[in-house]
Amino acid sequence: MESISMELELNEIVPKVDEFAIETIHLSKIFGKENQIHAVDNLNLQVRKGEVFGFVGPNGAGKTTTMKMLIGLLEPSEGSGKVAGFDIVREVINIRETTGVLPEPAGFYDNLTARQNLRFYAKLYDIESEVREKRIVNLLETVGLTRAIDQKTGGFSTGMRKRFGLAQALINEPSVLFLDEPTSGIDPLGAQMMRDLIKDLNRSKGVTVFLSSHSMEEVEEICDRIAIIARGKLLAVGSVEDLRDIIRAKEGLHYLLEVQDIPLSEAAEAVKNVEGVTDFEIQDETLQVHAETKLRTEIAKAVRKAGGTVSMFEEEEMNLQKLFLKIIEGA
Ligand SMILES: Nc1ncnc2c1ncn2[C@@H]1O[C@H](COP(=O)(O)OP(=O)(O)O)[C@@H](O)[C@H]1O
Ligand SMILES: [Mg+2]
Repeated sequence: MESISMELELNEIVPKVDEFAIETIHLSKIFGKENQIHAVDNLNLQVRKGEVFGFVGPNGAGKTTTMKMLIGLLEPSEGSGKVAGFDIVREVINIRETTGVLPEPAGFYDNLTARQNLRFYAKLYDIESEVREKRIVNLLETVGLTRAIDQKTGGFSTGMRKRFGLAQALINEPSVLFLDEPTSGIDPLGAQMMRDLIKDLNRSKGVTVFLSSHSMEEVEEICDRIAIIARGKLLAVGSVEDLRDIIRAKEGLHYLLEVQDIPLSEAAEAVKNVEGVTDFEIQDETLQVHAETKLRTEIAKAVRKAGGTVSMFEEEEMNLQKLFLKIIEGA
């Protein structure tokens, strides 16, 4: 009895905390009057606290428009959303305070130095001068721009601008970071540096990251979960493995086998009779099997029953970019 009443009391004291860092319900944006464009069409998203969430889609998919609505730069035509528990229409000021944004393209005061630029942004957040000066030095160190601290941002390369933009986005120690195409236009090495920075930030500070990209490979590398968007519509959400499962369910799977002790043709005959196997092919020393669903155990059993020994059994993993295109094509 006592423990029950304890629990009740706790429930009363603990404030209701939002489970998600970002949440949208039927979020839509329509541009234009006569020729209407559904830039964002009925988007339902849930981004968990502390995750790196990738928003991936081709140009014009609606990524930037979504981000602008989430940070209060554009008002939704329909639907609603919350960021860090705050309403994206009614509580924009709270959202500004708790989030950081790297827009695409990012604009700075290019005739000011990196330090002067960050001072300006820090003042917008009323950050006390002593804290501010230390934070500026630390942030520029974090993004690898210590030596450029007193250089004008106008002379920065694209990669430096992106990293500087990240420092700027972090000036108010946000709990949610919005990064619009954080690596677009940078060389591969610079892009890798940016991705490493984002991963480190997420790990060390627990910042929730919402980033957009048109590269599936990029989001696969750094994101816990991915949402695929095209023509304003959400097509799929999940981890890379979840997305692979979606494609497997639609397209089936490819297995590659090597078999000892019996000729491959005999193994093929045995596998052909497994329910769910739709096709097979013998190529060089391997047997390729196409199956509707996961049939690893069943296939191995059939080969063994025919007297064969499976010496290699692999699933041909679909290339991520192909996966991405398949999902977009399917829509
Ligand atoms: N201010 C605007 N007025 C009219 N159409 C717009 C505006 N902003 C974006 N769009 C259109 O909305 C669609 C989505 O654009 P955007 O969100 O920028 O896509 P992404 O960032 O995924 O490339 C595109 O068709 C684009 O032309
Ligand atoms: Mg964009």
